[in-house]
Amino acid sequence: MKFYVTTPIYYVNDRPHIGHVYTTTIADIAARYHRLCGDDVFFLTGTDEHAAKVVDSARERGLTPQQWADQNAAVFQETFRKLGISNDDFIRTSQDRHKTKVQQYVGELLKSGDVYLGEYEGWYDAGQEEYVPENKAKEYEYKSPINGKPLVRKTEKNYFFRLSKYADTLLQKMEAEPKFVQPEVRRNEVMNRIREGLNDVPISRTGAGEWGIQVPGDPGHVIYVWVDALINYLSTVDTDERRQWWPADVHLMAKDILWFHAVIWPALLLALKRELPRQVYAHGFWIAEGQKMSKSLGNFIELEKIDRYVAEYGLDAFRYFLAAYGPLGANDSDFAEAKFVSVYNSELANDLGNLVNRSLTMIQRYRGGMVPRAAAEDLRAECERASAAYRAAMDALDLSGALEAVRALVVRANRYVEETAPFKLAKQPEQATRLDTVLYNLAETSRWLGVMIAPVMPQIAENIRAQLGLSARVGRIGEELRWGGLAAGGRLGALAPLFPRKI
Ligand code: MSP
Repeated sequence: MKFYVTTPIYYVNDRPHIGHVYTTTIADIAARYHRLCGDDVFFLTGTDEHAAKVVDSARERGLTPQQWADQNAAVFQETFRKLGISNDDFIRTSQDRHKTKVQQYVGELLKSGDVYLGEYEGWYDAGQEEYVPENKAKEYEYKSPINGKPLVRKTEKNYFFRLSKYADTLLQKMEAEPKFVQPEVRRNEVMNRIREGLNDVPISRTGAGEWGIQVPGDPGHVIYVWVDALINYLSTVDTDERRQWWPADVHLMAKDILWFHAVIWPALLLALKRELPRQVYAHGFWIAEGQKMSKSLGNFIELEKIDRYVAEYGLDAFRYFLAAYGPLGANDSDFAEAKFVSVYNSELANDLGNLVNRSLTMIQRYRGGMVPRAAAEDLRAECERASAAYRAAMDALDLSGALEAVRALVVRANRYVEETAPFKLAKQPEQATRLDTVLYNLAETSRWLGVMIAPVMPQIAENIRAQLGLSARVGRIGEELRWGGLAAGGRLGALAPLFPRKI
């Protein structure tokens, strides 16, 4: 099977912060999981560069828009590299490979009549670069709901996309395929808004100068940045070598930009007669220490802070926290340092780390580092139950559910240590076979845990495998998650705690 996962392409004017890092990490975890399943994975992220504010910011710095975009796109790329993101490509909308495709598609739509020249007057949110419908503008008291600046009245000759034509098809699709837009609450919001009616939408602006992609055959008009941006998902794979990836299996983003992905984008694809993505998934927001992150409060969890967490607790622990406690569902999540540290100490250091460490240390001490043979499969059913729950959750992108299943297995295995008391068995020579069995069950369970956490904590997974004396690479998940994969008679590697405890 193929699996194509995308993140939004981020505004190149912004500095990366926890929001961008979160969506990209979630996508990374999904990509790594599907690779483990043996799927052919294509994972795309990138930068959205043709916003008008890029021109302003560049000018303030005495740079060309391209120079400014180059600098900032490099920051995003470097950030994702540092955070171990395994994307297969990084699309920048200022690249020729993208621009030519955008012109090609818009050209097709002009020809088919789904894009036409008309006139538009409305309330414009300059910060967001979008028109706000009259009823919304009133509700917002004619101010931007994002930055509070007054909306401006604007008239333009514009190219329009015949969005109205696709309202029924989209609604039918959403009714017939409940998984198309997720989570459920978001799906309902989108459907209700479509039911209110869809107007055609402007897809070009005038007088934008040289920055942006021109409407084919009309140099006075530049394609609206949102249409340009959405097309990245298709333009990147619309080549002879990559065409097999389309349609995307899941477009990931936060709820702020769901409308574009659940309505405008599928409608554009319908008009282009292309297949629709299988799923559009909109998660919630991270807030910081109980407060909404905003420019005015200056409380974004930015790179510097993320770097500090990573340096202190390890990248994998940071990824674990994002995955286990992030806003993947309908609700927002709070990133509080105290909570992160407490999760690190309890779930990672105390529970998982301690389980693996004490299990393997006992094999070292009582069996000279050689994996003993088991006479019974005490923890097999527990492992199988946990992995079934884990896989069902991962398949549904329920990362916290998957990690809950992992945690339950860790708790069970730690209890097994207390119940079987191997440290006591070790003192009774007649219990040697029983001790072998207990130690094997613990080591084998550690191996299962190493496999299951691999998409979320790839370094820790390798570390567990090295300590078990196994090769770093995890094989296909279906084969790895089979009881008995750890061979008796094998030698453990060097042991070390997985998560040094922090105060
Ligand atoms: N450029 C557009 C997207 C075009 S996609 C065709 C854009 N860029 S953005 O830089 O503003 O990124 C928005 C996305 O960043 C959100 O949808 C989400 O993925 C992520 N996040 C930004 N802030 C966030 C939080 N506070 N919490 C979680 N994710 C957030 O919109």
